[in-house]
Amino acid sequence: MPRNLQAEPLLPVDDIQGDILVGLLKNHEHLIFFEITNLGDFKSFLQTVEITSVRDCLDQRAAIAANKAQDIDRIIATPGLNIAFTYAGLQALGVANLPTSSDVQKFRDGMAASRADLNDPDPAHWQILRPGQPVHGVFIVTGASHAEVVDIIGLRLAPPAANGWKQVHQEVGEVRPDPVRGHEHFGFADGVSQPGIRGRVAAGVPLTPQLGADENQGARGQDLLWPGEFVFGYSGQNQDADEFSEEGGESTPPAPFMKDGAYLVFRRLAQHVPEFNASVKQAAAAIPAGSDKPTATLFGAQLVGRWKSGAPLELASTHDDHRFADGTADANNFEFGDDREGVRCPWAAHIRKAYPRDDVRGNTSPKQSEIDQAEAFTQTRRMLRRGITFGPEVSEAEALAGQSAGGAKTRGLLFKCYVTSIEDQFEFVQQSWCNNVDFSQLGSGIDPIIGQTAPAEARPFLGAAPVTEQSANKPQIANLGLFVEMQGGAYFFAPSIPAIRSF
Ligand code: HEM
Repeated sequence: MPRNLQAEPLLPVDDIQGDILVGLLKNHEHLIFFEITNLGDFKSFLQTVEITSVRDCLDQRAAIAANKAQDIDRIIATPGLNIAFTYAGLQALGVANLPTSSDVQKFRDGMAASRADLNDPDPAHWQILRPGQPVHGVFIVTGASHAEVVDIIGLRLAPPAANGWKQVHQEVGEVRPDPVRGHEHFGFADGVSQPGIRGRVAAGVPLTPQLGADENQGARGQDLLWPGEFVFGYSGQNQDADEFSEEGGESTPPAPFMKDGAYLVFRRLAQHVPEFNASVKQAAAAIPAGSDKPTATLFGAQLVGRWKSGAPLELASTHDDHRFADGTADANNFEFGDDREGVRCPWAAHIRKAYPRDDVRGNTSPKQSEIDQAEAFTQTRRMLRRGITFGPEVSEAEALAGQSAGGAKTRGLLFKCYVTSIEDQFEFVQQSWCNNVDFSQLGSGIDPIIGQTAPAEARPFLGAAPVTEQSANKPQIANLGLFVEMQGGAYFFAPSIPAIRSF
């Protein structure tokens, strides 16, 4: 059956902020956390400030694609500015009379209040955005270069005092240099997999085009989801459906001004790279000899579920294969159903924890109906990730010492994602999947990248057996270190552009 585009909503591309559905194009990104200091001046500023829409992002991408097609090597300006508010910020603007659903409560109470649920460090010791600071919102400023970001700050946000705001904190992100552009600091290609989104950006033009034969997929293996999962006011998924492709109910905006907006989750995640590498080497070496003993490189790939190139272990379980690397048509063209025992890709590998595709919880020999139902549920737990790396490259001295310099040289990921339910999407994935040693199967172990345990609890990890493909040969690691450190974060709401003008 061909995809029925007409049944998908026409998305107001001029109204929705660009970072949500498309992603601001960026080599550099400044996150300017602000406090509103003068309400009248701030509201006047919001009336006219130039905000980057979904349409702007699509136009910028089209310009870059046209350049590439003509083989023109020239940097295209990609100015980006989006704005999101904390609950306190919406209150300051006088619009926070929200009903108290448990999800709105998550937003209202903020990330620090979920600390126990997420096994986050004590907020009193966070490095940034400790509770009690007057953070009303964040300006997300992006560009092709640092100079472009500074230019946007000068042209659109300055002068802060006259525009009724003041900076309370700033984070600076930068993509890593070639040839590891687009790779996070442990070295793995990031941003390889994103949900496909149903909906049209103009008559007959889908936001996510169908590139393969499957009418329920965008690129091959990229399942298409109803847009209500990521923006309020549209049909979403139905977690109880028989098939994930079924249209679910509307993601009703908790208040009318929230239509065409989304929640933004932000976390500063420091990465201890030399320590991670030393531990990967040590753990791989400690695995008893046998045909399934991995090299340090393979073991590292098993922690993530992909090789550094982005090629998934499901398609390349013993050797990296650039036919499936990031940017290729098949980088996401796989399910876990051919590997229910987790012998090619460990059950606890980061990508299998964070998006288990067709895995069925606690069941390695499911019936087709159970698989379909599990997939329908899983597709209500997705997120649009928009992170960027921060901090310097690892120095030779740090690499030799196997120890991070820390301080101003701290590096990591400024994690951002957009969802319409903080509770069911971001928090559920972190808590019920990544932190849960028995997901997706009993004894899977913790997500070795972002799983967080209660203090003093072990971090077990069950590896893979890609050569023998015998479950009994999977190595059991008793206690992996923790190499990603949550240093602070917050929940925001990114309203539509007309809503921002109406404040
Ligand atoms: C420093 C922290 C993190 C690192 C180093 C990291 C690294 C990666 C890498 C290398 C990938 C594979 C490439 C891709 O599919 O885009 C990935 C995928 C993913 N990550 Fe993370 N990540 C981090 C934090 C998080 C957090 C906090 C979450 C959410 C709770 C998350 C959720 C996901 C999801 C949903 C995927 C896509 C899985 C798929 O669709 O196959 N990650 N991450």
